[in-house]
Amino acid sequence: MSISAVILAAGKGVRMKSDLPKVLHPLWGKPLVHYPVQLAKALHASPISVVTGYRPDGVRAALKSGGVSFVHQSPQGGTGHALMCVGKAWGRFKSPVLMLLGDVPLLKVETLRELMRVHRAQRPAATVLTAEVEKPRGYGRIVRDGLGRVSAIVEELDAREDQKNIPEINTGIFIFDPLFLNSHLSRLGRENQKKEYYVTDLVAIASEEGLPVEAVRVADPREIQGINTRKDLLTARDILRQFTVDDLIERGVTILDGRSVYVEPGVSVGEGTVLHPHVFLRGETRIGRNCEIEPGAVIQNSVLADGVRVKPYCVIEESVIGQGAQVGPFARLRPASRVAEDARVGNFVEMKKTTLGRGSKAQHLSYLGDATIGEGVNVGAGTITCNYDGKKKYRTILEKGVFVGSDTQFVAPVRVGKGAYIGAGSTITENVPPGALALSRAPQKNIKGWTSSRRRHRR
Ligand code: UD1
Ligand code: MG
Repeated sequence: MSISAVILAAGKGVRMKSDLPKVLHPLWGKPLVHYPVQLAKALHASPISVVTGYRPDGVRAALKSGGVSFVHQSPQGGTGHALMCVGKAWGRFKSPVLMLLGDVPLLKVETLRELMRVHRAQRPAATVLTAEVEKPRGYGRIVRDGLGRVSAIVEELDAREDQKNIPEINTGIFIFDPLFLNSHLSRLGRENQKKEYYVTDLVAIASEEGLPVEAVRVADPREIQGINTRKDLLTARDILRQFTVDDLIERGVTILDGRSVYVEPGVSVGEGTVLHPHVFLRGETRIGRNCEIEPGAVIQNSVLADGVRVKPYCVIEESVIGQGAQVGPFARLRPASRVAEDARVGNFVEMKKTTLGRGSKAQHLSYLGDATIGEGVNVGAGTITCNYDGKKKYRTILEKGVFVGSDTQFVAPVRVGKGAYIGAGSTITENVPPGALALSRAPQKNIKGWTSSRRRHRR
């Protein structure tokens, strides 16, 4: 079924107590409005229009990745008015219209597929997604007739006391028949407490004319949590965490403490991988199979191959780690670091724009910036690449099999040839030929009897 989508995002969200439009408040690294847009894209909806109102530029900027068009609604005359604005912008509705709300971020795509299935099978004027909740307060209530058919939706403010007890609520998500919208949208009125055009009134309009309205009840009411307050946002974060943890477990990932891992929606983790407590996986991170990510790791927009071990308290950004490599504890990989297969990066090692070759080791207290380090290189403790002269950055190249003694500085640009050795404590300012030993420290002098002569002097 070809489908078009409308995402309502015009409101300020007064109850958030913030100048930021409600739909731009972040939920796990992405603005709220990102979530319904992703759903519409996953269903291949076209066109996808986002209705903006309050601070439209901010909303546009947040969705700059494309694939959506914008319809401006000013002033905001209600959810029905928002749909009318879209009707005007589109000319007329041609394919079924999926309506999503910018403040309902946790819906699952499978739920919308079920809504589409029912709509396609029954061809009603509208199909509404409903939920049965313990606390229906604040939501529109689903009114059913004696035969159990949906006959109206009443908003909290307009509901009679007996209607307020109805536990089945409107999630705000609909699919509308395009012909029904073309002929009936203009019939919406504003005879309600808020004096707004309510999209929900289309249900009563349809049923009064004997046009069927279908309802699909969401299996897990956590999905339809709407965000109206900051408290709701906190609740949504928890629910999203639970969803993500459940999904990862389903895929064969071991999670040692489901309450403390933080995995953003764009992250993938392979089967057999173990996530320890307080692991943060962010952005577009991809973790392979059978990895071990130990406590306190923060990994952002990075790719880890299979069998990688990240020991406690590492910070890894925009980096790539090869199969079987080990990093940490307390390592920091800054953007564009590459750790090849079976390499080791140990404690208090910082890397930036640096490649560490296959099987190479940098185990202790080093800064490796703008360096290309070949295979089988041993980088001794306390090695520093002096990559910056105050104006520009320069590269250090250590070829295959180089052995770097402890406490060495490489004043870049500098190249060390294959298999060369660097004596501990050296400051390397010149290129080193392959196979050479480079030493730059002053030769040691031992002054015999020095301490006792000094003591004598003091007296
Ligand atoms: C709406 C529904 C209610 C449902 C609830 C689910 C109506 C009349 N009520 O109520 O039945 O239970 O959602 O969460 O539809 N918006 C616009 N333009 C407007 C008004 C709103 O774009 O003129 C946008 C808002 O930015 C928001 C969404 O529509 O993203 C929903 O608006 P909101 O004011 O939160 O409606 P609710 O009172 O939650
Ligand atoms: Mg709402």
